[in-house]
Amino acid sequence: MKRNSLTAKLLAATTLALLATAALVASLSYVVITHYPGVWLEADFVSSADEVADGLIFDAADRPIALKIHSGLTSAYAALHNDMLYRVVDPDGNVLLAADANAKALTPDDKPFDSTLTRFDLVRDGNLLHVATFPLDRPGPVYYLQLARSERFQQAMTGLESSTAHEAGLTATIMALLIFSAIVFYTLRRVLKPLHTASEAAARITPGNRHTRLSTDGMPSELVPLITALNQALERLSVGYEVQQEFLTTAAHELKTPLALMRGTVELGDSPDRTTLLADIDGMSRQVQQLLQLAECSESQNYTMAPTDMALVVADATAKLTRLATNAQVVMHTTLAPCVIQADRAALFILLRNLLENAVRFAPRGSAIEVALNAQGLSVRDHGVGIDPQDMPMVFRRYWRGSNPSGGGSGLGLAICKQIAHAHGWSISVHNADPGACFQIHFQQP
Ligand SMILES: Nc1ncnc2c1ncn2[C@@H]1O[C@H](COP(=O)(O)OP(=O)(O)OP(=O)(O)O)[C@@H](O)[C@H]1O
Ligand SMILES: [Mg+2]
Repeated sequence: MKRNSLTAKLLAATTLALLATAALVASLSYVVITHYPGVWLEADFVSSADEVADGLIFDAADRPIALKIHSGLTSAYAALHNDMLYRVVDPDGNVLLAADANAKALTPDDKPFDSTLTRFDLVRDGNLLHVATFPLDRPGPVYYLQLARSERFQQAMTGLESSTAHEAGLTATIMALLIFSAIVFYTLRRVLKPLHTASEAAARITPGNRHTRLSTDGMPSELVPLITALNQALERLSVGYEVQQEFLTTAAHELKTPLALMRGTVELGDSPDRTTLLADIDGMSRQVQQLLQLAECSESQNYTMAPTDMALVVADATAKLTRLATNAQVVMHTTLAPCVIQADRAALFILLRNLLENAVRFAPRGSAIEVALNAQGLSVRDHGVGIDPQDMPMVFRRYWRGSNPSGGGSGLGLAICKQIAHAHGWSISVHNADPGACFQIHFQQP
């Protein structure tokens, strides 16, 4: 059995609990029997009184005439008549029933019978007797039951009782241990069976049969949340896997098309169209660069968050894109409020570059692009055609390029922006500013 096994732990706990209980019971009974003999004697009196009272037989005149208790005890009262006595007496002290003939009511120092004296000791022929008097609880005439135990009888019984208690305790503990072990083994085997079945099913799950889910049938209710959570994790993984597969297929397709075109151009003969070839190569380079960037910004460990002066990064990004803007004959206006927040500077730069590249591409000649930064967020707005309202939900999807793609983009730029924004806990949205599109980043999620 493994060290960390549930069965082993339960068995160990059961064994310990049983041993502790047995030890406690044994020591308690030992202490009571040896150090508090009075307690034990009293318990003996009370149980014997009940037994004798129940065994008394009365005649038609309601007088006790016989005692019918089990034969062992009857013989004990007869044989040990100096050490183990009983008397049934009336309120005047007349003995109506006893094991020995001519018995007298038990009284200390030959005093008359006193029913209020419920516990006392007396010495008879040098033998110390402990006596108890109980009123008989029954309708009809009042009778009293007297029971006596000699001190020497008591001591003999104490020795016998404590060794019997030890042996009985030990045997009971061993028996209980065996029974408990069997029950623990059997119960755990039954309880854990659905878990074994689920483990085997889980072991068989591969990308090929990723829709298999683990059954909760017969599962202990404590384990159902675990299995449900596992199934939900499998579902998420399965969806993620499908998204990745689809992405891979699209990426391969995106690269295959320009490659086929390039091959066709080269095969045309001696004078390949250099301009088309270079444009295809540029397109592919952009595709590969954006793919790598998307892969990189999808991994949370690639981010190094640090307090970042956002105004500085925005100024840096606009400066780096000035040449692109000048070539497109657009200007960039920036309105920057000081703002320092936790961010990955390099990732933020990539985000801004993608937004600005799009804006420059769609901005009409002679128009302006407005970049604004404040403590709540940042926005990039152009005065171009804007985005068709029905295309709005698709804008941030991978490989979505709109209905009139212009400029040979890879369709990954905004997906990269969304990934970076989410990695920072920001939200990204777009709306039409009429004219033009306005992309907004909110540093706090709405
Ligand atoms: N400022 C904008 N104005 C109008 N349409 C836009 C604007 N920005 C993006 N779009 C639309 O969204 C599409 C997706 O943009 P995205 O940046 O993701 O890809 P891309 O620019 O085509 O390629 P790349 O990955 O090279 O940036 C664009 O193709 C375009 O149709
Ligand atoms: Mg783009």
